[in-house]
Amino acid sequence: MRNPFQYGGVVSGESFCNRTKEAQDLRRSVENAEKLFVYSERRLGKTSLIRKVLAELPEEQYLTIYIDLWPTDGETSFVLACAKAFSEAMNSSVDKLLHTAKTFFSRLVPAVTTNDEGRPVVTFGFDQKRPDVPLLEEVLAMPAKVGQKEGKRVVVVFDEFQQILEYESDVVERLLRSSIQHQTDVAYIFCGSRKHLIRKMFMDSQRPMYRSGAHYPLGLIDESHWQKFIAEKFVITGKRISTETISSLCALTEGHPFYTQHLCHPLWELCEEGEEVSSEMISQATKLLLDRESYAFMNLWDSLSRNSRRLLKGVAAEGSGVRVFSSEFLRKYRLGSSSNAQRAVELLLKKDIIDKEESGIVIPDRFFRLWINSKQ
Ligand SMILES: Nc1ncnc2c1ncn2[C@@H]1O[C@H](COP(=O)(O)OP(=O)(O)OP(=O)(O)O)[C@@H](O)[C@H]1O
Ligand SMILES: [Mg+2]
Repeated sequence: MRNPFQYGGVVSGESFCNRTKEAQDLRRSVENAEKLFVYSERRLGKTSLIRKVLAELPEEQYLTIYIDLWPTDGETSFVLACAKAFSEAMNSSVDKLLHTAKTFFSRLVPAVTTNDEGRPVVTFGFDQKRPDVPLLEEVLAMPAKVGQKEGKRVVVVFDEFQQILEYESDVVERLLRSSIQHQTDVAYIFCGSRKHLIRKMFMDSQRPMYRSGAHYPLGLIDESHWQKFIAEKFVITGKRISTETISSLCALTEGHPFYTQHLCHPLWELCEEGEEVSSEMISQATKLLLDRESYAFMNLWDSLSRNSRRLLKGVAAEGSGVRVFSSEFLRKYRLGSSSNAQRAVELLLKKDIIDKEESGIVIPDRFFRLWINSKQ
């Protein structure tokens, strides 16, 4: 029997838990052709949620364009990634693909090949003979043009948007801003996982994208939704799990989707058909996962300063709501002064080992948190 818990890639259908309200919110934003920044910790389910929202839009009314910026490193690869995504979103036949590419991009030379599933895919190169044509503007103007041509609403998603902060210049950011402002009928979703970077992009008045859209922080999935989701998966595979056990499992992962599915995976394997999950099985599954990571965690731990470790120990033990600058915390975890704590926080933020949430400081890697706690 196949393990019903999936972790890693994009999840959909039966493997997708709740997010009803979030899906509605995003759908409304798309219908209103808004510009929206969606951000969260890593692996919280942004891509899965956005993919679901796009898939549920009526095809005859909407053209959806999804661009993953992860592999891009500058203006050139940005332009090529956009051109490819726009062309593929519009057409399925080879002739049409070539035609679209030629109509819309004067300086790009398209070539069509087929992928593993036999679907045509288009790749682009540059026409070196015409270096004077402003490529970036041309590509950025495309969504609105396509919408008019096809008589459809257009939604553009830029996933891993924080990647553009890595580009050498901010020309993409600047032109993107002016371009989206004029595209009042096109919905844009900018999605990213390094929260402090995404926040910086739209909250820092020095940055080109400052206040160019609304923002939507994606949160954890509440235990009540996991209760139903997890229990059902066990029941349909002939196993059982109690409400209390699911509760303690969610307390370990704090309801983080990736870590919750990841922990459920070995737990399901440990439980025989016809049996019920015991609390020992939870400990066993957790140990199994932490053992696998322990080498990496140990190296990471060894690379940290003494104060950083003390701060981490405190946050891991007390949970994310804890006030790390309070005199009680400083005393209990032997941090000395609040400036020591401040320095540790800055260091750990920079290394992405902690993150700042509305609730306080969190350790995004829930297994690292458990590992730290297991060491005390
Ligand atoms: N709604 C959901 N229901 C159940 N599991 C989910 C859900 N959303 C995410 N997950 C779990 O989290 C994992 C990561 O999801 P996804 O790739 O969508 O997150 P992400 O935020 O886009 O990640 P990244 O920060 O790496 O881009 C999935 O493989 C799955 O295990
Ligand atoms: Mg993603």
